[in-house]
Formats: sequence, structure tokens, C-alpha cells
Amino acid sequence: MKRIGVLTSGGDAPGMNAAIRAVVRRAIYDSLEVIGIRRGYLGLICGDVEPLVMNSVADIVQRGGTFLRTARAEEFYTTQGRLKAWETIKNNQIEGLVVIGGDGTFRGARQFSLEYPLAVIGIPATIDNDIPGTDFTVGFDTAVNNVVDAVNKIRDTATSVERIVVVEVMGHDTGFIALESGLAGGAESILIPEVPFSIEDVCEKIRLTYKRGKLHSIIIVAEGAASGPEIGDQIKRGTGLDTRVTILGHIQRGGSPTAFDRNLASRMGSRAVEMLMAGCANKMIAIEAGKITSVNFDDTIGLKKRIDLELYRLANILSF
Ligand code: F6P
Repeated sequence: MKRIGVLTSGGDAPGMNAAIRAVVRRAIYDSLEVIGIRRGYLGLICGDVEPLVMNSVADIVQRGGTFLRTARAEEFYTTQGRLKAWETIKNNQIEGLVVIGGDGTFRGARQFSLEYPLAVIGIPATIDNDIPGTDFTVGFDTAVNNVVDAVNKIRDTATSVERIVVVEVMGHDTGFIALESGLAGGAESILIPEVPFSIEDVCEKIRLTYKRGKLHSIIIVAEGAASGPEIGDQIKRGTGLDTRVTILGHIQRGGSPTAFDRNLASRMGSRAVEMLMAGCANKMIAIEAGKITSVNFDDTIGLKKRIDLELYRLANILSF
């Protein structure tokens, strides 16, 4: 193998830059050339590529987002789109491809490699942490820390004016961000799509904690469980207490990646290149119990990752 390609696709995640840097530098260390593809599969379709050298990835390990940029390219999910993408691969003599993204990214990669002779390795990167087969995805830790940072600030004002604040967080249709940030931020209730909840229970908990003198509450709602404003209305009606709502939004996805995400991305990027050189294909790099491993695309795509119910119970016990 002489030349590989690298792209980021889907939603951006902090640590994607660190992953690209690791792919480029590990490849160059092993005498491979690297082609960067801009805007994910869209760049493959349009031929929007650039050679990447050591300096191309200088000064990016600490930056959020992705300097290659990213997109959700619907055309790649058509036969015609993938044919155009194959032309770019052929014209640039790319023999292996590292795709950095989430489930949709791997789905596209698997289909592409079924139709064309190209080895593809995936690196899981999404703030949602919703990819089965890996304990963590690149970007999740930073997003959780962003939420905790915001919750700390919200709590300062909530305690001062004795209010309930509902905080809606991202996570697509899962509650990983809500659960980890809720536990770390000491949220009084955490509402996630994986666990049924009743507003009456949430209100009752607020009443009980108020009775023992705790005059504020932080309720974390995963966007996939319910809408923050609706939950806020229901709590206000149920308790009669002063309630406010904050939707954290894209602030969760930005900012400098944590050391954990940078190191995870660096380890995964390097392993992805090793695997291509070893002739592997159609696999996603993963981390399990602290060790870098890999799983077949077929063992992760379309599957549902389980939430840690023990963690959920613990968060409930500790927040009374
Ligand atoms: O998948 C990452 C994510 O940030 C989800 O948590 C969220 O639901 C979605 O992307 C938001 O997408 P967009 O940036 O297109 O609004």
C-alpha cells in the first residue's frame, strides 16, 4: 500500500482533528502518502482533495471541529454518487481509506467497499457515543465536559434565585450525554429515552427535596426523550414553582477537545493506519476496557448501544 485517503463525515466532533493528525503522521512515519478529502463523501464525489503532509496537520490537535470539514452527503447513498466517488479514488490512486464519523458514515463505507475494491477502516467520532462495539466515541468526553461546565454555571444562578432549571442536551435518540453529564453535574433528575419516566415522579422528587430545604433543582433532559420547554411547562404546572429552560444546543459540540478525546483519537488514528497496512478492511476501531481493538462494520452498523442502567440508578440515588 502506497497511498491512503482520510475524511470526516456526518456531524463534527471535538477530537476529529486529532484523529486526522494521527492518521497523517502515522502514515508518513510508515512511508505512506495521504490524501485528505474535504467535506466527507461530498468531497469524494466532487474530487475535492488535497495531499496532506506533516505540516498540514500542525497546530490542530487542540482544535475542535474538523479542518477537513464535514457534510452529510445524501448523494453518496445513491449508486451514481458512489460511482463518482470511485472515480476520485481511482484518479488519486488511493488504496485504503480511513473514514471518521458515526453510524451513517460506516454504513456508506460498507456499501462502497461492497461495490468497489477499496479497504476502508472507520474511526468512531460523534458526541452522542451511540456506536455499539466501542466504550467511547471521539468527542463524547468533550461534549459531556461542556455540559457539566454549563450546568455548573446554571446551578450558580438557580441556587441564588431558588429556581428549577430544565437543561435540554443533545444525544440524538440516546441518553449517553444526559446520563454522564447528569451524574457528574449532580442533576436532580435525568430524563433519557432508554428509561420510561413520569412527570409526576419528577415533580414529587422536587417537592420532597424542597421539603428538606433544597430550593433549586436541575433537570437534565436528553433531546431524544422529550423537549425541554415541554418538560419545563409540565414541571411548572405540577409544582407551581418558578421554572426556567435552557437548550444547550451546538455549544456542546464545539471547543477544544479534552485530553481524553485527543488521546483516544490519536490511538485510534494510528491503529487505523496499522490495520490498513496489515490488509484489514471493513472494520471500525474501538476502545474496550481501555484497550484499542476493532470490530467488523457488520457488528456495529444499525445496532443499538445499551445504556448503563447501574449508572442511571446511581445518579438517582445520589441526587436525593
Ligand atoms: O450527532 C451529533 C448531533 O450533535 C446530535 O446530538 C444532534 O441531534 C445532531 O447532531 C444535530 O445535528 P445538526 O448539527 O445537523 O443540527
